[in-house]
Amino acid sequence: MAELIVALDFNTADDACKLAKKIQGVVPWVKVGLELFIAEGPQIVQKFKAMGFKVFLDLKLYDIPNTVKGAALSACQAGADLLTIHLSGGKRMCEEAAAVSRSHHERMKIFGVSVLTSFEEGELVGYTGKLSDLVEMMAKGASQWGVHGIVCSGHEVEKIKKTAPQLLCLTPGIRLEENKTSDDQRRVMTPRKAVLAGSDFLVVGRPITKADDPRSAAQAINDEITEAMRELNK
Ligand code: C5P
Repeated sequence: MAELIVALDFNTADDACKLAKKIQGVVPWVKVGLELFIAEGPQIVQKFKAMGFKVFLDLKLYDIPNTVKGAALSACQAGADLLTIHLSGGKRMCEEAAAVSRSHHERMKIFGVSVLTSFEEGELVGYTGKLSDLVEMMAKGASQWGVHGIVCSGHEVEKIKKTAPQLLCLTPGIRLEENKTSDDQRRVMTPRKAVLAGSDFLVVGRPITKADDPRSAAQAINDEITEAMRELNK
């Protein structure tokens, strides 16, 4: 079953917790990203755990292997259930992060970011090929570096599931209607299509946090996920 993660992109714990309360019981996961983490520090993770959420700590780490190893250990000690690193950090960096996870019974999963969903074709410095080819190449690497999953757009999931079926796919850039405003996101997809493509986790921020009724918006996306899973299993 694909799981919904709500990105709590706020800069105070108060605002983030207010939103979290509205979606409690409807959504299994919340995302703590750079904005909230830098403002509130690692104790914010425990706040959401105490509210019954699993916590996706989206810090997108990218540094020398030893520094990422230390940061992954700190994230694990803070109680994160899932942590992101950049696959472009390479084999040794990714292996160090994966080793931290293994030494803690894989309680915290490591997901590698491929190409951010805000990038469109031709926008990446020094790369003129197709973004889906680049993501597929990164998935091949990731599948041998011990990470649990990959962060990619919905458009790349089917290819990844063929190339590296053991990798879980986490998909941001989710929008409810294909042609609706996508803010800064470029490689977007609807929840239904992302699930049908095989995505395991859907990360949704503004379509829920900026909705008039965030709980109903989250519930509607959950219903769409459930319906798509049913279609998939027919
Ligand atoms: O508001 P929106 O639904 O665009 O939020 C998407 C969330 O997913 C943001 O918190 C963003 O940082 C995160 N994310 C992303 N692209 C990635 C990895 C994470 O948009 N490749």
